[in-house]
Amino acid sequence: MSEFIATDLSSYYSLYEQSVRDPSKFWGDFAEKEFTWIKPWDNVLNCDLSKPEIRWFEGAKLNIVENCIDRHLQENAEKTAIIFEPNDPNESAQNISYAELSKNVNKTANMIRSLGAKKGDRVCLYMPMVPELAYAVLACAKIGAIHSVVFAGFSAKSLSDRINDAECKYVITADGGYRGSKVTPLKSITDEALQSCSCVSKVIVLKRTNTEVDMVLNRDVWWHDLYDNQPLECDAEVMDAEDELFILYTSGSTGQPKGMVHTCGGYMVYANYSFRSVFQYESNDVYWCTADIGWITGHSYIIYGPLSAGATTVMFEGVPSYPDMGRFWQVVEKHKVNILYTAPTAIRALAQCDISHVTNSDLSSLKTLGTVGEPINLEAWEWYDEQIGKGKCPIVDTWWQTETGGIMISPLAGITKTIPTFATLPLPGIQPCLMDQDGNEITEDDAEGRLCIKAPWPSMARTIYGNHQRFKGTYYSAFPSKYFTGDGAKRDANGNYRITGRVDDVVIVSGHNLGTAEIENVIDEHEAVTESAVVGYPHPIKGNSIYAFVTLKDDSKHLDSATLETEITSLVSKTLGPISKPEKIQFCDGLPKTRSGKIMRRILRKVASNEIDNFGDISTLLNPECVESIVVNRK
Ligand code: WT7
Repeated sequence: MSEFIATDLSSYYSLYEQSVRDPSKFWGDFAEKEFTWIKPWDNVLNCDLSKPEIRWFEGAKLNIVENCIDRHLQENAEKTAIIFEPNDPNESAQNISYAELSKNVNKTANMIRSLGAKKGDRVCLYMPMVPELAYAVLACAKIGAIHSVVFAGFSAKSLSDRINDAECKYVITADGGYRGSKVTPLKSITDEALQSCSCVSKVIVLKRTNTEVDMVLNRDVWWHDLYDNQPLECDAEVMDAEDELFILYTSGSTGQPKGMVHTCGGYMVYANYSFRSVFQYESNDVYWCTADIGWITGHSYIIYGPLSAGATTVMFEGVPSYPDMGRFWQVVEKHKVNILYTAPTAIRALAQCDISHVTNSDLSSLKTLGTVGEPINLEAWEWYDEQIGKGKCPIVDTWWQTETGGIMISPLAGITKTIPTFATLPLPGIQPCLMDQDGNEITEDDAEGRLCIKAPWPSMARTIYGNHQRFKGTYYSAFPSKYFTGDGAKRDANGNYRITGRVDDVVIVSGHNLGTAEIENVIDEHEAVTESAVVGYPHPIKGNSIYAFVTLKDDSKHLDSATLETEITSLVSKTLGPISKPEKIQFCDGLPKTRSGKIMRRILRKVASNEIDNFGDISTLLNPECVESIVVNRK
């Protein structure tokens, strides 16, 4: 264990105090002791949050893959790096050692290089959760190409938007991907997407499902044709600490997704630090994060955090419900998982099932449990604690975001106190604060406000790809020189934080971050629709569901509403992917608007949540009369 990682409560407080008193010394000392740098930095931190201009380990040179793989080969070459558990439990699992991972990543890197890819080029990865996805991520990092992983559940339209935004030259995909009993035709979705992407010159196609595909001449190549003869050695590109490592898209309050940019040095340091601190990983632990690599959780806590710490990390291709609702627990037993990190939505779904699904498996290997992605309700927390942890595993409720790169507020397993439904205390180096509506910091205890972070940390996003103005506007303008998270939070008398949820136009459905504007844009494309307003409302398993209020054009008002509902739902599903589908659609004569023409979502949120007794002041509305019929006709 490192002296920088808390080992008990008093060391947590002392590290926290050091990290706030002298952040440059704290992070500089940690980074120097714990990583391999090709050249040291000139400055640990050079930052002006008013611009914002953020540089960590300025002037340093490194390659993150040397830190995630090569440096472990001396002593831990035979240690398992990745345990791959396939979708189908009858297919064999794979244990991939650090030595094998090294060779496979090198071959993949040489393969991508052989197409002409070089430092700074963007490579889109649209792949199932198979080891080759991990190889491709690390291969890009090794040669300095910037990876942009797009979750393989996204539609052709979402994929092409992301490819075009980042001007990706290369795409790596597969013929298909398994998800439970379904096969997603990834190659044909890619083909559809690429009809509107002129930037892409080459596509590598991995064979996974034996789905029939069309190969485009001079553009498409099979992974196995290109990969098999590649050399086992590959020089790592020398990267500046502030060179871009990856772009990852997240939803925003306009229709256009935001390509969050993370850079090599700071991201590596904090992914490693937070992984070791929060989970208290010990060298023989088997650690399993159930997220997909298409989300930041997979980037930081399946790949970069665990591998940089020399850990054994499980990669699961499937879903919790296949072949039955006991799959998670069967995988825990099979691989003797010690640390399990999953999402509240999965916990709620599994808690609904007959308890025999849990009790049929031996869960005695578990020692730490984690959650991420949305607030966890008390009932789900208690079920997780009692039925899965058998009352003896600490639960780390980890609050963070795509933008923060790593866990910000969370218990440290077995070190700091857990409190159900609270993310509790900030990690060393993280300085959260609560702000009131007038832009003042709330310094009292027992307070509620908008959650900001008031000092830089190493893995913070540096910009939105191609749009620094939007980056500043979204995150650094509501409260000047502070990072605004978009979340509301409460703080108790002991400084513990409880996240209350988004305060902007983002809704979290089954742990997926959805921008309501993006969904509205699609609904508005339907020829019968004038306008729509999308809000979230509480759902017992998914956390939130989507409710769409829609007004129709005069000449469409007579159309059959059931047919329209189906058409709109499938339009959203086709354009954005099934996770964005509205659960309820209500046709209305008008939407409540302010005099400046802005839709009053506050009212619609209440209607959707069935809280209809108090709308507050609606006298400022342009059309207060529409509210009554919206309430009467609510679903
Ligand atoms: C939003 C970020 C962090 C990786 C997965 C999601 C919500 C996340 C928690 C938590 C309450 C949480 C926030 C945040 N969120 N973790 N432990 N408790 N809310 O990343 O897609 O960027 O979403 O997820 O609202 O802003 P993301």
